[in-house]
Amino acid sequence: MKPDKKVPVSEDEINFSVNGDLYKVRVQSNWTLQYVLHDELGLTGSKELCNEGACGACAVIIDGRPVLSCMTLAIECDGQTIETVEGIARAKHPLVEAYVKHSCMQCGYCTPGFIVTAKALLDKNPSPAEEEIKEALVGNLCRCGTYPQHIKAVLEAANNLHRGQPI
Ligand code: FES
Ligand code: FES
Repeated sequence: MKPDKKVPVSEDEINFSVNGDLYKVRVQSNWTLQYVLHDELGLTGSKELCNEGACGACAVIIDGRPVLSCMTLAIECDGQTIETVEGIARAKHPLVEAYVKHSCMQCGYCTPGFIVTAKALLDKNPSPAEEEIKEALVGNLCRCGTYPQHIKAVLEAANNLHRGQPI
């Protein structure tokens, strides 16, 4: 959501890495990370759906953990390492192919958040059981009801990771 630029706020410059690229950005103290990634940097993969921490569509990975970018102030991200769905796609992570193969998306609005959360899971646990996948994805909502497909896709991506596919 575009921040209310009429509200007087302080500004500061932050430096962070996004998908391996270094950025220096001037941000207002009320700008969310989602706003900065999407609107200031043009990384439109993270989606703002609920804007209140309830749907997971805006998930990104910060220092190895899945984080809701709509609930994170950009100014807090100075010096951090961020990974978005664009970086995951650019690296040709097996999740991307598995998501396509298993038709995990209908409207597709929730898909980047699911992929980012699943990537954070596989980074930590390369052989998750079905229950562990469900638990990891519990905060990601899909209005189109694609839930069963995500489990299949994550299991397949995990298998492909073991076969040494590029990550
Ligand atoms: S848009 Fe961030 S959790 Fe829904
Ligand atoms: S595919 Fe439409 S919200 Fe998930």
